[in-house]
Amino acid sequence: PKITYIEYNGTEHTIDAEEGVSVMEAAVKNMVPGIDADCGGACACATCHVYVDETWREKTGKPESMEESMLDFAAEPKENSRLSCQIKVTSTLDGLIVRLPEFQG
Ligand code: FES
Repeated sequence: PKITYIEYNGTEHTIDAEEGVSVMEAAVKNMVPGIDADCGGACACATCHVYVDETWREKTGKPESMEESMLDFAAEPKENSRLSCQIKVTSTLDGLIVRLPEFQG
């Protein structure tokens, strides 16, 4: 599935992700800048924070309670904030667009 990451400065990176990995892992593997992922995907750092494009919010779903509380530590959480390590890449997410914050928390 294709995922597009849009940096804060507008630079777009479209990659072909493997199903089953997380949106964070797909970014790291493909050298997309802007996702630090300090905790390595354990939902414990909030430095894999992304903003999910409005048209994709339904498909990516809502954060679970642990993710929700970690999001409070993200630099600038918004309604469409998610931790990208908690979004799993599936074929239904083909075309997903996420935006990266200016800084990670
Ligand atoms: Fe640490 Fe996602 S990588 S919360």
